[in-house]
Amino acid sequence: MQQSGTPAPVARYSVLGKLFHWGFVVIFAYGIYKQVDNISQLADGALLRFEVIFAALFLILLGARFFYMTRTQSSALSENTHALQKLGAKVVHYGMYVSMGLIAASGLIIGALYTLFGPEGVLISLAVFIHETSVTASYWLIGLHIAAALYHRFLHDGVWSAMVPIWRE
Ligand code: HEM
Ligand code: HEM
Repeated sequence: MQQSGTPAPVARYSVLGKLFHWGFVVIFAYGIYKQVDNISQLADGALLRFEVIFAALFLILLGARFFYMTRTQSSALSENTHALQKLGAKVVHYGMYVSMGLIAASGLIIGALYTLFGPEGVLISLAVFIHETSVTASYWLIGLHIAAALYHRFLHDGVWSAMVPIWRE
């Protein structure tokens, strides 16, 4: 039993949980670095194939991560965190999954539409719009997420150190 006045035990993510989190930072950064700058680039069959395989693997891994994290891990936010703050963290975490999933899924749809009908058309324009909007949303959410992580680092409440291996509390 927890004695009154004793801080709650610091929650930690498993090795696999951390591997998923930090592995994705690297994979996502690579995806952004390799981004298609212009739809005409998809005329290069090797690039198109690479993008599609990358997006398919990305989506499968993201699903595996989501399944694992939601079933086995929990946030390091303490029990007595304000309900609104808990909700905010959930919205941002789920939002990052949704935006990253949409980037890969819309990318796959762009690949399929391009192969079937070429670079023009309402459907492919819509898919590119969803793709670019999800990229923008992911940047904002990741920015918010990093700002919140830094805020917790200054609060010294164990949230930062539950996931981040450097500059530990
Ligand atoms: C591509 C960039 C990133 C994405 C998409 C991302 C996504 C996520 C997600 C979805 C979670 C919830 C746990 C999970 O389901 O994996 C999480 C947890 C966490 N992340 Fe990130 N993250 C990113 C980068 C970072 C960076 C750069 C930092 C630190 C500077 C950071 C610090 C944390 C911390 C401290 C937690 C634990 C939060 C808690 O326990 O409630 N993340 N991240
Ligand atoms: C996880 C995988 C992917 C990531 C991380 C990714 C990332 C990006 C990024 C960052 C942009 C630039 C967005 C902007 O400037 O607003 C972009 C644009 C684009 N991507 Fe992807 N992408 C992925 C998969 C794909 C796939 C599979 C295809 C199609 C085969 C594709 C086709 C395009 C196209 C056509 C554009 C728009 C280029 C333009 O502005 O004309 N992407 N992608």
